[in-house]
Amino acid sequence: MAAKREDVISSLEASESMVALAKDHLVQPWPTAGEIGAEARGGIVSGDGIYVIDGEGRKLIDGPAGMWCVNAGHRRKELADVLYQQAMDLSYNSPWYTMNEPSVTLSARLAGHAPGDLNHVFYTTGGSSAVETALRFMQFANNVKGRPEKKLIVSRQGGYHGSTYLSASLNGRPRDHDWMDSASEQVVKLTCPNPFRRPEGMSEAEFCDVLVEEFRGASRRGVRTASVHSLPSR
Ligand SMILES: Cc1ncc(COP(=O)(O)O)c(C=O)c1O
Repeated sequence: MAAKREDVISSLEASESMVALAKDHLVQPWPTAGEIGAEARGGIVSGDGIYVIDGEGRKLIDGPAGMWCVNAGHRRKELADVLYQQAMDLSYNSPWYTMNEPSVTLSARLAGHAPGDLNHVFYTTGGSSAVETALRFMQFANNVKGRPEKKLIVSRQGGYHGSTYLSASLNGRPRDHDWMDSASEQVVKLTCPNPFRRPEGMSEAEFCDVLVEEFRGASRRGVRTASVHSLPSR
């Protein structure tokens, strides 16, 4: 059903005042220095299924599903009901000395999907903290096992792994490092495996051989390699 004109106007006004407030108070990710407060992005006011609606009433496909975290779609009543019920039953429970039913049930369910003996689940608050936690587990395990030299992490140029200190150190895009410090002594960066960006005149098969040899070379650097991080590169 088409939105009524007065609804569109009031949501436009709400969106304009949202943009004005954002200019005064909101720091959005990745601003160019000096543009904080000068630039405010368009406001999104609601979502429905695969769509989001902006302040001008435009219906846009939410291509990346939020930040890949709304894969089930917006405004799913069954999910909203569960969220509401959980908030009314128990809003939060610290995992230090106690536990709760949803986390145990989900762990068992995830273990059922995971291969082999991957049967235990450790929860974090997002991708960066998941990568950071995995790396710190690796460091901890190697220290405890008496091999503190085994710390080298292999990642790829062009990749993105997060925004916490160690996970960001794995990132392979120049702008992620331009003005940031990183744990570079612990990370080896290998070539981006995107065949589209392979050196001119090199066939895909040759490029693949180069990548394999480069990876072998990094592994030969020894016993020190502890962790390999790879993702489809841009
Ligand atoms: C492959 C990969 N790892 C880690 C992250 C970081 O996740 P988060 O933004 O939830 O911290 C992202 C986010 O884009 C990602 O794409």
